Order: sequence, then C-alpha cells, then structure tokens
Amino acid sequence: MTLPVMQIGADNDVSAATAAPPPILGTYKRPPVEMVRGNGVYLYDETGKAYLDFASGIAVNALGYNDAGIAGAIKDALQTGLLHTSNLYRTRPGEELAQFLVDNSFASSVFFCNSGAEANEGAFKFARKFGRSISPEKTGIVSLRGAFHGRLFASLAATDRPAYQAPFLPLTPGVSIVERTIEDLDAALDARTVAAVIVEPVQGEGGVRVIDHGLLAELRALTHERRIALIFDEIQCGFGRTGTLFAYEQTGVVPDMITVAKPMAGGLPMGAVLMSAEIASEIKPGDHGTTFGGGPFVASVALHVVKRLAEPALLQQVRDNGEWFGEELLTVKRRTGRVRAVRGMGLMWGMDVVEPAAGVVARAMDAGMLILSAGEYTLRLLPPLVITRNELREGLARLEEVLK
Ligand SMILES: Cc1ncc(COP(=O)(O)O)c(C=O)c1O
Repeated sequence: MTLPVMQIGADNDVSAATAAPPPILGTYKRPPVEMVRGNGVYLYDETGKAYLDFASGIAVNALGYNDAGIAGAIKDALQTGLLHTSNLYRTRPGEELAQFLVDNSFASSVFFCNSGAEANEGAFKFARKFGRSISPEKTGIVSLRGAFHGRLFASLAATDRPAYQAPFLPLTPGVSIVERTIEDLDAALDARTVAAVIVEPVQGEGGVRVIDHGLLAELRALTHERRIALIFDEIQCGFGRTGTLFAYEQTGVVPDMITVAKPMAGGLPMGAVLMSAEIASEIKPGDHGTTFGGGPFVASVALHVVKRLAEPALLQQVRDNGEWFGEELLTVKRRTGRVRAVRGMGLMWGMDVVEPAAGVVARAMDAGMLILSAGEYTLRLLPPLVITRNELREGLARLEEVLK
C-alpha cells in the first residue's frame, strides 16, 4: 500500500493537529519561564530574575522558600532510613503528628493521605459510613455555591465549576450544590437522605469569600438537629492562613470534620481528615486506606511544619499583618480605580478587578511578582505567612503599579 505524500505547509499538512503531546500532560498552561530556586519570599527563574511570591505555590509555602528548619527536619527524618513502611506497621512520626493535631483541635482522630482532593474524598466516605449508621438512605453530600473541593470524582461533583465537570460526567451521584443562604440550606438538608455538608470557611478558588459566621452558626444548628456531618474544607484556609491554626476557631462553630493539606508538610504532598470521636468510632479496619498516607518521612517533616504554624507569635503576626494589609488593599482600590471589591482575612485576600484577572497576573509576573486569580475577574493574594511588613509593602507597590 502506498501512503499519500504530504507536503509540509501545504493544505494537506496536518502536522499541527497531530503534533506529539508534550511529555508533561498538558493540564496546565504555563508561561515559558523556568523556576530554578527559591529563598524567603522570592522565587528565581533560570535568568536570575526574582519574583516576589504572593502565590506561595497556591497556599503551600507558608514558611517561604529555603527554610532552615524544614531543611533540618528533612535531614533528621532521613537519619532513620525510613522513607516508607506502608500503613501496615506503626511508625512514630505519624502517631506524634496525629497526637499534635488532636491536642490542638476539636478532633479525636486523624486520617492521613496525600492531597486535598483525597482528604475530601476520605471525608465523604467517613460521612457516608456515619450517615448509614443512622439510616441506609442517609448518603447525600451537599456543598455550597462557589465551592472548590478538588478534581476527583466526588470532590469534583462538590465543586461549583460546570466547565471542569462537563467533560467527565457522570460524576459521583448523590452530591448537590446549594446557594449560600440558610433558606436554601434548610430546604436541601433533608435529615433522612443527607449525610454531610461541606463548606470552605473562606472559599479560595471560588473568589476568596469569607462565609458569614452567622450563616455557619445556623448551619451548625441545622446539622446538629438533623444529624448531618458538618465538614469544613480548610485545605486552603487552614494551618494559619487566616491567623489561627484552623479557620474554624474564628467562626464560633465546631465542625465534625476538617480536611487539610496544602502547607501541611512544607511542600511535600500530604493531606489529612480530622474528625470527632462520633465519626471516628464508625470507621473500622478496611473501610478506607492509602499506601503512602502519613508515611514516616513526610509525617516527620509535617510535625515540624505544623508545630511552627501553630506558634502563637506567628499566628499573631498573620493577624496583625493581615489586618493592615486589608486596609492597604483598600487604599490600592481607591488610588487605582481599577478594583471593585476587596475581601479576605489573615493572609488570604481577593480583589475583584475591572479587567480579566489573567491579564493582571501576567503583567505582575513581568513586573517580578507572582499572584493568582480566583475566577475570571478576581485576583488572589496568598503570600507566605512569614512575610514581613516591608515585603508586604513592596508587594503593594508592585500591585498598584501593575493595576494602573
Ligand atoms: C479548598 C480546597 N479544597 C480542595 C483542594 C484540592 O486540593 P489538591 O489540589 O491538593 O487535591 C483545593 C486546591 O486548591 C482547595 O483549595
């Protein structure tokens, strides 16, 4: 058989359409610069250009880059030679880390995993097991308008992004998204069929929205009454980001579970579900599992990081700097006329801008500053928690310049 001869560049040239996909799957559109090192609150590309980092690897690098304490914790963890043993055997670092989290929260037990989405998927399973212990039909999961809970099948179903969902339908059944009003929640939270409601106390990807504490209190009352597990997704807003170790501490509400991840192990992948004794007592060997979750190496590093993030002086600094920074962002809004609204708390801030956020993010990068978007017209600022007032000032000046 003779194949037709194709001429490059001619009408029948399909090379663009059939070009080999990139070695790293194209799930992200990345700018061409290559990041090669980091120090403090700065990242550096291959040309040596410095970027003031108000993205923190999407809320992961809470202690900044090249932190001596993390480096020391990594060295110490290597001494044992135990990178991994599996969850079939006991190891001390995970036990100490779980104890620390229990001692510093409402929780009585912790399940370790490797990412945020995995933590939410685990929490949904635990909630369903708890729901089924009450009634066989109590399996539904409710999330809120604007929510982002991850990219796996159940966490994606709970994520309010139709465009992320559409190509992958059908998603996990029994998950619904409800408006952020007590009337809608009251109507949706059927005691017979709903096992859990999941809420980000501060919505991150959905536009940096602090959920009203009054709404959370009413939601807590409803969920108590109907025996529905209240899950707080603190994957982005937890571990000091809002100025307390956990965001729930400032809401006046104690949930039944919280999910955490991002900054937990200083950049190594780790997530966790913290839960009440009532939920934990329903979970038996074999109900859930993970090969890597809570392994000795990552747990040793996490123990160091979480202890640092729990230090009262650091949390006070986040609250003080956050309050000041929020005021300064309002000044930027006034001076540029390019900002519609400023929202946030601690070191988690969003700004609605009058142009597509992607353009501002790109101009900021050119100007040597990393920021994020959270929706089409919202900028998201998540500097490392260790950032100084002067570094925040530098960021504000650059941001104002970029917005003008
Ligand atoms: C609130 C929230 N939940 C869940 C996730 C998913 O976490 P991961 O990307 O580690 O799966 C994210 C990630 O951005 C998040 O911000």
